[in-house]
Amino acid sequence: MDSLENRVAIVTGAGSGLGRELAKLCAAEGMKLVLADVDQKGLEETRSMLGATESVVRRTDVTKREELDALASLTYDTFGKAHLLFNNAGVAASGPVWSSTADEWAWVMGVNVMGVVHGIQAFVPRMLEQGEPAHVVSTASLAGLTSVPGSGVYCVSKHSVVTLSECLYHDLQMAKADIGVSVLCPAFFKTGIAESERNRPQELSESNPDGAAFAQFVKAAIEAGKLSAEDIARTTLDAVKADRFYILPHKGARKSVELRMNDILNDRNPTSPMA
Ligand SMILES: NC(=O)c1ccc[n+]([C@@H]2O[C@H](COP(=O)([O-])OP(=O)(O)OC[C@H]3O[C@@H](n4cnc5c(N)ncnc54)[C@H](O)[C@@H]3O)[C@@H](O)[C@H]2O)c1
Repeated sequence: MDSLENRVAIVTGAGSGLGRELAKLCAAEGMKLVLADVDQKGLEETRSMLGATESVVRRTDVTKREELDALASLTYDTFGKAHLLFNNAGVAASGPVWSSTADEWAWVMGVNVMGVVHGIQAFVPRMLEQGEPAHVVSTASLAGLTSVPGSGVYCVSKHSVVTLSECLYHDLQMAKADIGVSVLCPAFFKTGIAESERNRPQELSESNPDGAAFAQFVKAAIEAGKLSAEDIARTTLDAVKADRFYILPHKGARKSVELRMNDILNDRNPTSPMA
């Protein structure tokens, strides 16, 4: 999709971090916007940064399919089309796999994986019918292409987003659909992700008892991130315009992907990407 002007973008997780920057850049491209998040205040703040852009906001919990269906209905009722869907909402949990909790699996898989599934299921059937090009971008992570110590739950969720996006791409190619797909795989960058707990449901509150040290490491790595959320958003929009599938904004991080692939292909045991 080379021209974004006057087209309609939907952003989940638009109340903070990368989602907010994606919304701002889409607005700067002249797009109309549908902003979704569980954080209503964050959504309103994002909207206030968009100037005269035509936009609607809707409190949406991506773990709930019916809320994504309602978001799709709002999009089509308001703007008649949906061109660019960002399945971006995400949360993180830390700690060794053996002490990860059932609550963490339910929470992280619910937001990071089922949130993307729900976005695809709510929007793609209508995109297929609308007779105009569209594009689906899902935010995975470098943790979707590598395996990071102390991040088992998060890595499983993000590997799922990568393969889900690859399968979606193949399915749409087979259907000869004019719908592009991209999967975004950034390394650490500064956002609110280290404070994911702020949006954690009360009923899924049991944390990994051994998670604190890993969480501190992640927090420090995020603070030290070399690229900004705006940089990541810009690279993402460039990839959409170029119809590029894999988006790896941190060039140096490619080495850890190569290392993992070489471990697999050369029958070696896994090398830590942190080594
Ligand atoms: N920041 C990083 O270092 C980094 C690296 C790789 C990937 N990512 C991914 O980037 C994406 C955006 O995260 P971010 O870094 O901007 O963090 P962030 O915390 O600033 O933003 C995430 C947003 O998702 C929203 N959210 C959480 N649960 C939700 C739910 N159930 N339904 C709807 N919205 C919900 C939050 O309210 C928040 O506004 C995530 O998918 C994250 O996993 C981040």
